[in-house]
Amino acid sequence: MVLERSWYRFVDRMAGVVGEVITDSRSVIASPCELADAGGMVLSSGSCLRGAARVFFVLTLASGAVVSASGQTGTGSQQTLDKATVGMSTTPDVAKDVTKRPTSTPYSGDLSIFEYPDRDKKLQIDRVMDLLGITPGKNVADIGAGSGWFTVRAARRVGPAGAVIAEDINPLAIEYIGKRVLKENLPNVRTVLGSADDPRLPSGSVDAVLMLKVYHEIAHPVPTMKVLQKALRPGAKVGIIDRNGNGADHGLNHEVVVKEMGQAGYKLVGTYDFTKADGQDYFLIFQVR
Ligand SMILES: C[S@@+](CC[C@H](N)C(=O)[O-])C[C@H]1O[C@@H](n2cnc3c(N)ncnc32)[C@H](O)[C@@H]1O
Repeated sequence: MVLERSWYRFVDRMAGVVGEVITDSRSVIASPCELADAGGMVLSSGSCLRGAARVFFVLTLASGAVVSASGQTGTGSQQTLDKATVGMSTTPDVAKDVTKRPTSTPYSGDLSIFEYPDRDKKLQIDRVMDLLGITPGKNVADIGAGSGWFTVRAARRVGPAGAVIAEDINPLAIEYIGKRVLKENLPNVRTVLGSADDPRLPSGSVDAVLMLKVYHEIAHPVPTMKVLQKALRPGAKVGIIDRNGNGADHGLNHEVVVKEMGQAGYKLVGTYDFTKADGQDYFLIFQVR
């Protein structure tokens, strides 16, 4: 029995068993430590494509080793996974997650789409950073960092005395940002591979967080935002920029975000609509209650 040494090897191995592996936040095992921690439990299930058929699989572990991957075939649209039982829980609250609303499939496509030329201007990203108190020397987290579009802007603003943590659940995004910051000579950026319900930031590490077009993809929003509190320094601000929608359409109504953030222990301290001219986007700022 061999303990998987890396997420990539795990995915390769799964691909060998069931075809191309499609990962989303509810079907991904984020790190080998989790494999070890979860010994003996049903760990995760997910869906994979084999030709036109979608294959659903369940992984079981014993003593930290992958012992089986079994599947049943199905066709048709994306399976809706039961949040209470599926996915790696690094936070105890996930088992009790009461979020009964759809969430969007995490974006895993071409990362260059986030780099369009007038994005700084459209989002008024300097104003966003001003409102989040991102100034030289501050520590910032870019949660769901994607290509690192915001990461590099925050890194330049905080300068050598500050730091930026670029976090994502997609290992390809993390690899991409790692290469990007080397190329752009930004030694104050560090990357973190999070899990679907835990961004895994060090305790007391950040003064400001931005979640840019990410919240609607968070599979377990209340437990995730609760666990984020550990990483926040006193007075830290958490910014959420998103689009109104129903959760499944890559947007989420801002009232829902405010309600869930309240359940996770935050209070709303700012509401803005300048991040897109059509008024469809909102920018909310929260602090711990
Ligand atoms: C639409 S993209 C936005 C990327 C980036 N923030 C931007 O706007 O340029 C959403 C990103 O959130 C990530 N994501 C989804 N669920 C997440 C979670 N629970 N924790 C951290 N990142 C997540 C996805 O992997 C994806 O990179």
